[in-house]
Amino acid sequence: MAKKPTKAFITFDNDTAPIELPILSGTAGNDVIDIRTLGKHGIYTYDPGFMSTAACQSEITFIDGEKGLLQYRGYPIEQLAENCNFLEVSYLLMHGELPNAMQLDDFTKTIVTRTMLHDQLSNVFRGFRRDAHPMAVMIGVVGSMSAFYFDSMDVYNPEHRMISAYRLLAKVPTIAAWSYKYNLGHPFMYPKNKFTYAENFMHMMFATPCEDYVPNPVLAKAFEKILILHADHEQNASTSTVRLVGSSGANPFASISAGIASLWGPAHGGANEATLDMLEEIGDVSRIDEFIKRAKDKNDSFRRMGFGHRVYRSMDPRAAIMQKTCYEVLNELGLHNDPMFKLAMQLEKIALEDEYFVSRKLYPNVDFYSGIVMRAMGIPNSMFTAIFALARTAGWIAQWSEMNADPEHKIGRPRQLYTGKDKRDFVPIDKRA
Ligand code: SDX
Repeated sequence: MAKKPTKAFITFDNDTAPIELPILSGTAGNDVIDIRTLGKHGIYTYDPGFMSTAACQSEITFIDGEKGLLQYRGYPIEQLAENCNFLEVSYLLMHGELPNAMQLDDFTKTIVTRTMLHDQLSNVFRGFRRDAHPMAVMIGVVGSMSAFYFDSMDVYNPEHRMISAYRLLAKVPTIAAWSYKYNLGHPFMYPKNKFTYAENFMHMMFATPCEDYVPNPVLAKAFEKILILHADHEQNASTSTVRLVGSSGANPFASISAGIASLWGPAHGGANEATLDMLEEIGDVSRIDEFIKRAKDKNDSFRRMGFGHRVYRSMDPRAAIMQKTCYEVLNELGLHNDPMFKLAMQLEKIALEDEYFVSRKLYPNVDFYSGIVMRAMGIPNSMFTAIFALARTAGWIAQWSEMNADPEHKIGRPRQLYTGKDKRDFVPIDKRA
């Protein structure tokens, strides 16, 4: 195998001297050309959408898009989803190692005893219309946490970072569940410390003060798995948003609120809700061909939601686990003939045989099956992305903490290729056309 290069040279098709740039290697994945000194040569790189740009170094998550691999701190997602609970994985993402029994017990107690919100925070919900989208409410309420928990917001203080991170991990499920209860006009259900993280969320979502709530263990385990699969994913749009907002020194609550806003987009985390809306619009296997045609039509904005990925050029490993979880939940609920699941399976089969999708390496992603599982669990489409945000809060706070702990980190300030008007003089209004 050819020796790996350690330097790159930019040569120009005129007599400008070549520019020498170092090549950096990580633990795994592509090497990078370190272009930090390029600006002083009077030239920038151009990469809208960051198709080929590494924005930071990170030790948290690694994806191999060609092989369809996803690892949190080196552990394959399949092993974590099968053997851990969500708080165990959150600990791993934040601290870099799986917790031992005592560490997990302490961490769980720390989180479980911080799930209540400041009582006045419940008033923030009441400023929204009852039919407000849960993601709009989450953006507002998580952002307003900076008006209630400002005793530990010094981002350069590791202890403050940890306190705020724990508060977010503990309270975002309560905020998400209460966003749903507010839509329904139901009373908020307070968290109960006797429940696990997943059981507590399901309790706050589905319980009422009128009767005791007994969580279904199969659904609770499936929900833990859904949270683990969504916990982190390298420098995706919402994580990059959290890092960019946080790079200015913005407090953790404002940074995570910005991440929730970015996740809401249908090209990103909003795809799980859009996938179910798409399946409901297709309605029946007989209409699949019509929608496949629309997905290929450049003049039609319709896209196969839940398909394609910027990094994965093979099946998203999370989609495979999610499909298996789908079977488990639908069987548990006696819904193995769920028409939406059958439609999704047929849609996946056709896509994996269709040249348009195969040639563009468009496979199901994490959002393709997650909506079907959550819908079967009684969660409305409008809550799917809120649950994605709940899970991704673990990854966002780990990435935000990693950035703030990096002594070399700087405020993010991209440059541009200016294509506007050249310098020109002011024209008085009576001289304008
Ligand atoms: C998530 O980044 C992450 O890691 C995100 C995420 C995470 O965990 O954080 O994994 C979560 O956001 C998953 C992705 C969810 N989004 C969707 O399911 C929405 C549908 N997918 C697409 O919008 C698209 O695939 C993206 C946004 C996911 C990726 O877009 P890219 O990488 O910018 O690719 P592209 O838009 O340039 O598409 C390449 C080609 C184009 O065709 P040509 O111009 O080559 O002819 O593929 C086509 C696109 O038109 N294409 C699709 C398609 N996705 C891409 N055509 C039909 N249906 C689709 N879904």
